Amino acid sequence: MRIRIKQALNSSGPQDDVLVKGWVRTKRQSKGFCFLEINDGSCIKNLQIIVDEGVPGYDNIDSINTGASVSICGHLVSSPGKGQAWEVKAIEVRLIGAADPETYPLQKKRHSDEFLRSIAHLRPRTNKYGAMNRIRSEMSFAVHKYFHDLGFNCIHTPILTGSDCEGAGEMFLVTALDLDKLCVEGKKVNFEQDFFGKRAHLTVSGQLNAENLACALGDVYTFGPTFRAENSNTPKHVAEFWMIEPEMAFADLADNMDLAQDMVKTMIAHVRQECPEDMELFARFVDKELESRLDNIIDNEFVRLLYTDAISILQKSGQKFEFPVEYGRDLQTEHERYLCEKYFKTPVILYNYPKEIKPFYMRVNDDGATVAAMDVLVPGVGELIGGSQREERLDFLESRIAESGLELDDYWWYIDLRRFGTVPHSGFGLGFERLLMLTTGVSNIRDVILFPRTPNALEF
Ligand code: 4AD
Ligand code: MG
Repeated sequence: MRIRIKQALNSSGPQDDVLVKGWVRTKRQSKGFCFLEINDGSCIKNLQIIVDEGVPGYDNIDSINTGASVSICGHLVSSPGKGQAWEVKAIEVRLIGAADPETYPLQKKRHSDEFLRSIAHLRPRTNKYGAMNRIRSEMSFAVHKYFHDLGFNCIHTPILTGSDCEGAGEMFLVTALDLDKLCVEGKKVNFEQDFFGKRAHLTVSGQLNAENLACALGDVYTFGPTFRAENSNTPKHVAEFWMIEPEMAFADLADNMDLAQDMVKTMIAHVRQECPEDMELFARFVDKELESRLDNIIDNEFVRLLYTDAISILQKSGQKFEFPVEYGRDLQTEHERYLCEKYFKTPVILYNYPKEIKPFYMRVNDDGATVAAMDVLVPGVGELIGGSQREERLDFLESRIAESGLELDDYWWYIDLRRFGTVPHSGFGLGFERLLMLTTGVSNIRDVILFPRTPNALEF
């Protein structure tokens, strides 16, 4: 029976006739026998195989090189070598797929992140990207477990949409029209002839739909892909990313902050608990301060700070920032990072932003000038979460939509929620890739997602 290398390495005793399959990481040939290190992706560790001359399949050994896939039948025996408890003494070795050692791009040396991005189809076979993808998987499971345990309903919101949730216009247009025929200068495209009879986009957030469900099921969350056509080539922006969006009925901004803090702590603790070997790689080779930073996040309350107080801290900081700091402007990554890395040295929940810089759906505070918005800022990344208490009052919402230059008609169903049994409700969006950056210390978002989509990059 085939066993995974993870199972083999955790075996409680020797085993006869195990079958393991994987890719060769290294090969060392000696007189009369050969050592193979193979990895099957089940864990970071390799399994050592000893193939003696004369074992069936040994005549093929010259073709079994780094990168090749193999199938090994043998006995799992305790290993005299250092660093591993078990190894396999092969009784048969079979080459499944060869890899030309001259052209296989993954060599034994360490490769740069930039180079590995150019071979993103093969980088999951390295220790680092293998670990990253296992952590990503575990983190994804942790998200569902977390909300399931709290009694939230998982909902699936549409990816194709006719409304702009963030009102920022950074949306990808989706069309079934033949653009080659349409691009006649000076002529307006008639979207009534398009698939949906109107303009359609890829969603920037599932929030508006999630609010609908929250106003029926109470507590819900969605975890899906979202798209932003922002032309920002930064280490923390991609055009396609995954967002987790909880939405709670009968909840205000303070409840929202409590959930955000608890969720971030629980996610990180879960991955540390379940993926110790993979996490160790990041702590050793990627970010020496990772352990202490994560301890700090888990052990301490996040700071809750008014937007106005943040502005005055930044203005008094004496720091030279590239972008100006003044009331009424949004914070830039450099400001966010100053607050949580230098000033507070812990995650910060910034709240009550001026309404002019936030979307229409956020609840206007009694001062009339600010909205009940909150952003969670974390060290190394900046903004991890954006959320708010939603505007539940019909008249306020209608005037905010109009003020934002959006069409009331496009949001009739959203507005209806305020007409029939409206309730205070709150939610947020957490960028899954940014959570992975925080958890692993990886500083470029392109290295926590399988095939990053960024401006001018749609390979793979
Ligand atoms: O702050 P944002 O834009 O909030 C919303 O979309 C709300 N509708 C969510 C809600 O309340 N349900 O985005 C939420 C998070 C950000 O804090 C950030 O972590 C991530 O999504 N994000 C991105 N991640 C990677 N690349 C991008 N281009 C991102 N834009 C936002
Ligand atoms: Mg935001």
